[in-house]
Amino acid sequence: MSDNKRRMLRSRAWFDNPDNPAMTALYLERYLNFGLTREELQSGKPIIGIAQTGSDLSPCNRHHLELAKRVRDGIREAGGIAFEFPVHPIQETGKRPTATLDRNLAYLGLVELLYGYPIDGVVLTIGCDKTTPACLMAAATVNIPAIALSVGPMLNGWYKGQRTGSGTIVWKAREMLAAGEIDVGGFADLVASSAPSVGYCNTMGTATTMNSLAEALGMQLPGAAAIPAPYRERGQMSYLTGKRIVDMVHEDLKPSDIMTRQAFENAIVVNSAIGGSTNAPIHLNAIARHLGVPLDNDDWQEIGHHVPLLVNMQPAGEYLGEDYHHAGGVPAVIAELMKAGMLPHADAITANGKPIGENCEGAENLDTKVIRPVADPLMRDAGFVNLKGNLFDSAIMKTSVITPEFRARYLENPDDPNAFEGRAVVFEGPEDYHDRIEDPALAIDESSMLFIRGTGPIGYPGGAEVVNMQPPAALIKRGITALPCIGDGRQSGTSGSPSILNAAPEAAAGGGLALLRTGDRVRIDLNKGMANVLIGDAELAERRKALEAAGGFAYAPNQTPWQEIQRALVDQFDKGMVLKPAVNYRDVGNS
Ligand code: FES
Ligand code: MG
Repeated sequence: MSDNKRRMLRSRAWFDNPDNPAMTALYLERYLNFGLTREELQSGKPIIGIAQTGSDLSPCNRHHLELAKRVRDGIREAGGIAFEFPVHPIQETGKRPTATLDRNLAYLGLVELLYGYPIDGVVLTIGCDKTTPACLMAAATVNIPAIALSVGPMLNGWYKGQRTGSGTIVWKAREMLAAGEIDVGGFADLVASSAPSVGYCNTMGTATTMNSLAEALGMQLPGAAAIPAPYRERGQMSYLTGKRIVDMVHEDLKPSDIMTRQAFENAIVVNSAIGGSTNAPIHLNAIARHLGVPLDNDDWQEIGHHVPLLVNMQPAGEYLGEDYHHAGGVPAVIAELMKAGMLPHADAITANGKPIGENCEGAENLDTKVIRPVADPLMRDAGFVNLKGNLFDSAIMKTSVITPEFRARYLENPDDPNAFEGRAVVFEGPEDYHDRIEDPALAIDESSMLFIRGTGPIGYPGGAEVVNMQPPAALIKRGITALPCIGDGRQSGTSGSPSILNAAPEAAAGGGLALLRTGDRVRIDLNKGMANVLIGDAELAERRKALEAAGGFAYAPNQTPWQEIQRALVDQFDKGMVLKPAVNYRDVGNS
């Protein structure tokens, strides 16, 4: 590209600003001190940020410290200059009280870095659950050229010849421990076997979901999501990603050009086909809000519910990350959808500058046991249902993990198909659940529904992954491993529980769940998309008055300044759990 065709790069305002030579000298001086030359900083080479989410605090993303070297090689090869900098770490399994609390903190920090420093484009190093949405949300707000790079899943876990998947094995091991099939030592061995290498969860948990959706949205190079972290292709993809972002800067290909409404519709369809996590609607709705793209949980049901489950990965199926990659990853899933005419927008543009349909057309499905064709799916109508009623305005149910036993017990009543009623047992957060679940006075049996509240974005700051509640040990011993579970918290994407969750508004924000009492009858109707407590409006109004007189729904005090700030500003799960004032800022990197 000739120099006069080059766009004015935003980094020139720092390093080559003829209107303010004194400031230019000041900016240059300190960035030269580690050995960069004026020639490098003033010759119109794009400055490419590498937003580094890996660190010793975040083992899932730690391998990005190594991969960034190949990203730098690619940037340099394409004529850019790499500036690597840290993103606030978010480790799903390490952060208390919950990692989600930090999604918006990492978002805020990254927006500030991308806005405030001389960066022309950015490589977003994504991976562990919340790191992906935090990075994409920031890219949405700043809207400078951006490309995402997954760190990749861990290798498959194995124990005595069986695949053991991240998280999913923990839920299984808990059941085995409760049933007396293993002891505490066996529990630890079983769980450790699922984490054999660097990388993120090898199941279709929130990490594989969000990394796959980052590719389906068009924000990664084709095939970038599924490569396991230790594979050589992961380093090669890192190099190619570094090379590509430099061209994206020259082409001025921005997040708002890629993450359009069409791209979100594609991602919703892919989410159903992969059996994606119930955290996906929270995060995609958030990214969309930061771009000003309309998207809500009704869209998830309308666009996604009829789509079949194709990917046979735990927790909905059998296989793990290496198998998903060997079968062809996201391009093979999209190719199967396209063959059946189920990809809504093949013309949506992606990070490589080409339409997603062109990228994926003919991508070979190399293992139809792992990625099933649309004609032979694991399940039909595998997307989310969005439930409403007097308990909440919106709550999501992941139908792809409904087991045959659960279906037979609750959904196959010939007089009332896809509907069930039960007696509510209400817990005030995870501690209360653990204290009382075995209490015989609660009289929990198969006609009970377990409720948990005080676990949403405000109640348990950030929202706790606790709605998938295990039944009491006595029920598990009788073979009842899942009761209907409902709550204003979330659940891990690695859980195979068909919970009704992410309820909004949460109890702490005045939602109907705050009025529920143990012993109330509740009716769920999946056909009608309804969830209601079967008591009259007058009684509900009485209860609300009593709650307000008692000072409203109580929750634990703030432990840190950020908890207080987030609680004051955060929106509900169905609205993406964004910081409300943040959605007023768009395109800030171009102002
Ligand atoms: Fe990090 Fe699952 S804990 S990806
Ligand atoms: Mg998780």
